[in-house]
Amino acid sequence: LGIDTSCDETAAAVVADGREVLSNIVASQVETHQEYGGVVPELASRKHIEAINYIVSRSLAEAGVTFKDLEAIAVTNRPGLIGALLVGVAAAKSLAYCHNLPLLGINHIEGHIYAPCMVHDALPFPHICLTVSGGHTLLVEVHEGWQYKVLGSTQDDAAGEVYDKVAKYLGLGFPGGKVIDDLAQKGNPSAVKFPRPMRNTDDYQFSFSGIKTSVRYFVEKARRAGLHIAASFQAAVVDVLVYKSLRAVKATGAAAITLTGGVAANSHLRASLKLAAAEIGAEVYYPPMNLCTDNGAMIAGIAYQKYQQGLRDGLSLNATPKGSIF
Ligand code: KG4
Ligand code: ZN
Repeated sequence: LGIDTSCDETAAAVVADGREVLSNIVASQVETHQEYGGVVPELASRKHIEAINYIVSRSLAEAGVTFKDLEAIAVTNRPGLIGALLVGVAAAKSLAYCHNLPLLGINHIEGHIYAPCMVHDALPFPHICLTVSGGHTLLVEVHEGWQYKVLGSTQDDAAGEVYDKVAKYLGLGFPGGKVIDDLAQKGNPSAVKFPRPMRNTDDYQFSFSGIKTSVRYFVEKARRAGLHIAASFQAAVVDVLVYKSLRAVKATGAAAITLTGGVAANSHLRASLKLAAAEIGAEVYYPPMNLCTDNGAMIAGIAYQKYQQGLRDGLSLNATPKGSIF
C-alpha cells in the first residue's frame, strides 16, 4: 500500500512487485483551492483528514485485497506541506501498528522519478530524469539501485508554479497548466520574445521567475491576445527545459530521458523533448498521466524497491517539509 498526502491530492494505491498497479485512487482538492488561485496549506491538511480513510479503503477494495494481503505500508514523509504530510504519516503509522506491517517513509521526488520505470521495465541506467511539477523542477541522473545524482534544480519558482501564475495573470483560473497548453496551440510562440533565464549558464540550474515577471509586465501594458502570450510563454519555459535536459544527456552519455510530474502532461514539452532527443539518438519515456501527477502508486512502487534493499522505518517515523534525495 502506498499513501501520498504531500500536497493537494489524497492518494492511496496498491501495487504488486513494484510495477503492477492493482489500484490507484486519488481525491483531488482542486475545487477547494480554486477560489484562492493556489493551494492553501491549512485547507489541504483538513481535506486530507476527511478523505484519508475512505481513499485507503477504496484502494484496497478496488485492488481486491484486505490488510492481510499486504506486505508493507509506504507513505510519503518528505518533502511537502508539513500539515498535509502529517495526515498521511499518522494514518500509515496507525495502520502499520494495527496490522503489524512494516512501515516505509518515502521521498515524494523519488516516487516521481520512479513512475516512468513502472511502465517501461527495460529503462537503461543511468538515465536522466526531468521532474517538473507544481512544486519541483529537478534534473537528476538516475543510477542502478536507485542512486541519484542531482544535476540541477530551480533557483526560484517551479515550472508548474509559473504556469499557474501566468494563467492567473491571463485570468484563466487555477491550475493553469492545461489551459495554457491548450491555448498556446492556437497562438504564435514567436509573438513575444520572453527571456530564457539561465539557458546558457554552464550548469543544470533553472530559473523561471524572470519569465513570470516579464509575462506579468507584458500583460499589464499590452493587451495582446492571450493565446499569443500563452504560446510565447510556453515556448520560453519549454526551450530552457529541453535545452538543459539535452545538455545533461550529452554530458553524461545517458541513453534515455524520462519525463515526470504534472508538467510532463505538456504537449509542447513532450514533442520538443522527443524531437531534440531523437537528434542525438536518445529515447524519451514518460508514464501515463495518472502516474505523472501525484499518486500513491509511485510511492508504493519505489517503496517496493527500497523494501528489497532492506529499508524499514519504525513507528517513530516523522514528516519533514524538506527532503533531499542525495
Ligand atoms: O505533479 P502535480 O500534480 O502536483 C505537484 O506535485 O505539484 O503537478 C501539478 C502541476 C500544476 O502546476 C499544473 O498547472 C501543471 O502541473 N500542469 C501542466 C499541464 N498539466 C498540468 N503544466 C503544463 N502543461 C500541462 N498540460
Ligand atoms: Zn508531486
